[in-house]
Amino acid sequence: QANGLGLTPPMGWNSWNHFACAINETVIRETADALVSTGLSKLGYEYVNIDDCWAEIARDYNGNLVAKNTTFPSGIKALADYVHSKGLKLGIYSDSGYFTCSRTMPGSLGHEEQDAKTFAAWGIDYLKYDNCNNGGTKPTVRYPIMSHALRNAGRPIFFSLCEWGDLHPALWGAKLGNSWRTTNDIADTWDSMMSRADLNEPYAEYAGPGGWNDPDMLEVGNGGMTKSEYEVHFSIWAISKAPLLLGSDIRKLDKETEEIVSNKEVIAVNQDPLGIQAKKVRSEGDQEVWAGPLTGYRVAVLLVNRGMYRYTVIAHWDDIGLPPITVAEARDLWEHKTLKNKFVGNITATVGGRSCRMFILKPVA
Ligand code: GLA
Repeated sequence: QANGLGLTPPMGWNSWNHFACAINETVIRETADALVSTGLSKLGYEYVNIDDCWAEIARDYNGNLVAKNTTFPSGIKALADYVHSKGLKLGIYSDSGYFTCSRTMPGSLGHEEQDAKTFAAWGIDYLKYDNCNNGGTKPTVRYPIMSHALRNAGRPIFFSLCEWGDLHPALWGAKLGNSWRTTNDIADTWDSMMSRADLNEPYAEYAGPGGWNDPDMLEVGNGGMTKSEYEVHFSIWAISKAPLLLGSDIRKLDKETEEIVSNKEVIAVNQDPLGIQAKKVRSEGDQEVWAGPLTGYRVAVLLVNRGMYRYTVIAHWDDIGLPPITVAEARDLWEHKTLKNKFVGNITATVGGRSCRMFILKPVA
């Protein structure tokens, strides 16, 4: 993508996972307020993204999209001004078909240029572009039209392709947008979350600065998983260079959720300028090793235990891409501790049931 955006994975919030269609301008404003008051904006969470259901079902007589009067009476431009005044960015949602997935508002098919110009005029910074109700035509035909329209709209707009992975958008998305969904919708359960992680993993080599694989938005804080399961969720998304789009009601951010999503060391792995997505380099039964390189010859390593019982997991240097004689220091990113011992050849750690341990290994000799 030539728009220069997304040099690291986008971070922010999106309304869908928690609110679905029950959104309004107050929720969006209060979420922007909360991003700032909780300190999350300082950690990099900058996009406030409105998902489906923000518009009237009918366009106006000039064919323009219109914000839904009952829920967004002040209009989107006013909302963008407000969000910008907080130092944040506003994202919006449309669809590459005739209607969005909720069928409560029109899609952009046949109106791509007009809608791109509208979004730019409103001050939109991010567009999530869905794939519903498209009359059976190909996404590889529809997505380039909006990509082109956005590039000509006169404002840099992050372009998020939401094609759900059916036609392997990792193979063609980078030319068109800044991220592409590799999976269908996540749900707030361990099985759903882990299956999205697995579906996303094989496309690792297609991700990089400017264009990212997207296994869907975060569910951390929505209540369907335990704390350690949510830590696994956040860790895999971070190491996989996935967009970190919070999906809970952060106006009511609880301590546990805050602790997870504001882990600076895990966020730094996600935002490392090298932008290389980790791979699952070994799996034996329920135990897995995920690893990927970071700047400074460092390696991020994630030990995941999918089983119910505590287990010892070992990461070998030849699996994670360190030369065999490397002596490495290990930083534990969830314990916030640098381990006293140095490691050669491998690192071993006990991992609780449905839990993870995450390390940065730094060569010291
Ligand atoms: C699709 C997308 C979701 C969400 C809904 C909105 O299912 O994949 O992320 O945007 O549409 O209707």
